[in-house]
Amino acid sequence: MKISIDGPAGAGKSTVAKKVAKELGFVYIDTGAMYRALTYMAIKEQIDLHNGEKLATLLVKHPIEFQIENNQQRVKIANQDVTEYIRTPEISKYVSLVAKHEQVRKEMLKIQRQLAEKGNIVMDGRDIGTNVLPDADLKIFLTASIEERAKRRYQELLLQGYKGSIEEIKQDIANRDKQDQERKFGPLKKANDAILIDTTQLSIDQVVTRILQLVKKFQEGGKNEII
Ligand code: DC
Repeated sequence: MKISIDGPAGAGKSTVAKKVAKELGFVYIDTGAMYRALTYMAIKEQIDLHNGEKLATLLVKHPIEFQIENNQQRVKIANQDVTEYIRTPEISKYVSLVAKHEQVRKEMLKIQRQLAEKGNIVMDGRDIGTNVLPDADLKIFLTASIEERAKRRYQELLLQGYKGSIEEIKQDIANRDKQDQERKFGPLKKANDAILIDTTQLSIDQVVTRILQLVKKFQEGGKNEII
């Protein structure tokens, strides 16, 4: 079974996707981490982030891998574990710029489809239900108000020692949403057959429960049961 979870920054996708995957014994694939890892590598190698061709070449040269260590998923690029470096405000600021290039998205799509072939998966991102896995069995689109999303990111970053304001985070999220929605290739968009869940007023566990109910319906009666 393939489950896609798309939505804007801070809607709770990765937390929810991880939990759903764990409950079901499925593999979780965080495609945002893939774009972040590439952004990290491009900055390190001083590649022009406006040059899609060079970024795609960098991606082909340095494969991205996910590995489980001590029960935690680690992201590696060019054999370097970059998990701790890819969620900084600097990477968040530049990642949408990297993700807008057609050449980059084409290469990512190939890798993501290969990863999805491995079996039962939960994949989260922006264009999974629309582009990467248009045949996903269950498609979820998570949203929340921008205030709530900024608050969640702020709390996450505080734990990492962040010193900026919540207003800066809100601005960054708004900019990123705009760039992700307006880009020509693989924009952030709800698939027609995706189920919309607004998480503003919901706890993580409530969202997970709702998705698990949908999975159960699918397993009992197929896709027609859920849309
Ligand atoms: O989910 P995230 O915040 O870690 O994603 C980081 C960025 O990567 C996001 O701003 C847009 C981009 N992205 C994308 O373009 N397509 C995806 N499938 C996943 C992420």
